[in-house]
Amino acid sequence: MVREGFALAVFPVCGGVGKPGFSASSDRERNAGSWEDKALPDPSPGGRVGEKAGGCRKTSSVRAVHGQLRYGQVNYTITVLPGDGIGPEVTAEGVKALRAVGARFGHSFTFQEALIGGAAIDATGVALPPETLAACRAASAVLLGAVGGPRWDDPRASVRPEQGLLGLRKELGLFANLRPVTVHPLLIEASPLRPERLEGVDLLVVRELTGGIYFGEKRRGRAADGEWASDLCIYTEAEIARVVRVAAELARSRNGKLTLVDKANVLETSRLWRSVTGAIVQGEYPDLIYEWMLVDACAMHLLRRPADFDVIVTENMFGDILTDEASMLAGSMGMLPSASLGAGAMGLYEPIHGSAPDIAGQGKANPLATILSVALLLRHSLGLEPEARAVEAAVSAVIEAGIVTGDIARPGQAPASTSVVGDAVAERIVA
Ligand code: IPM
Ligand code: MG
Repeated sequence: MVREGFALAVFPVCGGVGKPGFSASSDRERNAGSWEDKALPDPSPGGRVGEKAGGCRKTSSVRAVHGQLRYGQVNYTITVLPGDGIGPEVTAEGVKALRAVGARFGHSFTFQEALIGGAAIDATGVALPPETLAACRAASAVLLGAVGGPRWDDPRASVRPEQGLLGLRKELGLFANLRPVTVHPLLIEASPLRPERLEGVDLLVVRELTGGIYFGEKRRGRAADGEWASDLCIYTEAEIARVVRVAAELARSRNGKLTLVDKANVLETSRLWRSVTGAIVQGEYPDLIYEWMLVDACAMHLLRRPADFDVIVTENMFGDILTDEASMLAGSMGMLPSASLGAGAMGLYEPIHGSAPDIAGQGKANPLATILSVALLLRHSLGLEPEARAVEAAVSAVIEAGIVTGDIARPGQAPASTSVVGDAVAERIVA
C-alpha cells in the first residue's frame, strides 16, 4: 500500500475497532442523518442539536455552538475539551481545520465545548463533570487538548486533572489508542536522530488504554519502617485479545508486520500478553510477520533502527513511555496525533503532548499534532477518508511553506504563532 506525506494510520474501516468486518457504510449510517429524518439526542444541558445559534446557552461546564444545517446535509456533533495549559490554543486550531473541512466539503459540524482536567476542577470541583461525560457520549467524536499543570500538581491532592482524561477513556470504553509516527522529510533536521536513521520511518503504536497499572487497585499504607504504596497491574485475556486484534488488522492494512512489546522476562501480565497474542496471530493472522520484543530493548531499537517497525502493540504504560520517545523521530512532541477507539465509531482524538504550562497562552504551541488528530477523527469516527487526507496534505503543505512553530522551525527560520499555523493549514484544506 502506498502512503504519502502524512498519510497516518490507514484503518480498514472507519471506526468500530472491536468489530472485525464492521462496514464503513454502517458506521456512516450511525453518524449520518438528515435535517428532518434524524432527531439527534440532546447532547447535554447545553442545548439540542439543531437549535439556532441564538439558542446557545452556557452552563457550568458545557457550551454548545450551533450552525445552520442545509437540507439533506449530514451534521456531526463534535465535543471539544480544551482542558489546560496549551490545550485551548491547540484545540482552537483543530476546530478551525474542521470548519474549513465543513466549508470545502459541504459538511455541517456542531461544536460543543466542555470542561475537563484542571479547568473542570476549578469550576466544578471534579476533573470529569457528569455534563462533560454526557456531552462526549452524545457526540460523533471528541477532540481534546491536554490536561494538567503545576497548579493541580500536589501529590497529596485527592482530585487530579489526569483523572478526567483517564475517567473519560474508561467510561467511553476507548481501549485502543493509535499513535502513528511518520517523519516529514523537511523535519528530519528537527529530530535529534541522525538523518539516515529516519529514512523510511512509518510506524504505528497501538497502546492498550483502559487497563493495566493505570487502572489497577491503588493502595497506600504505613508500616513500622515507614509508608508503602502499591499499584496493581492487571490484565484479562479478553482485554488483551481485543486490542491485539485491532493492531493485527491494522498491520494487515499496512506493511504486514506486528511487534508485541512486553516485559515477559519479569512480569506475569506480560507472559499473558505473550501467550494470548501468539495464539491470536497464529490462529487468525498467520500472514503477518510477527515478533515480540522486551520493552527495554524496544526503547533502544526505536532509536537504532526505527524504520524496521510497522505496528507495535503494547500495554498501557509501556505505550505511554514509548510514544513520547517515538515522537522524537518526528521531530517534536507537537507533531504526534492520537486516536482512542472503542467498539463503536465514536472516538477521542488528542495530541500525545501534554499541557506545556511553560508556554501556555503565548502562541508558541505547535497545533499540528491536534490538527493531525482532526484528520484521524475524520477518518476513524466519521468515515471521511478524502477529508482526512485533505487535512494531512494541508499540514504537509504548511511545513513545506515553512509556516511552523519554533519547536520545528529550522535554524534562521522565524517561528510562526499557533494561530498563524492554524490559519495556514485551514487555508490549504481543499476538496
Ligand atoms: C498520554 C498522557 C496521559 C497518559 C496522562 C496525561 C495521564 O501522558 O496521553 O500519553 O499517561 O496516558
Ligand atoms: Mg504520555
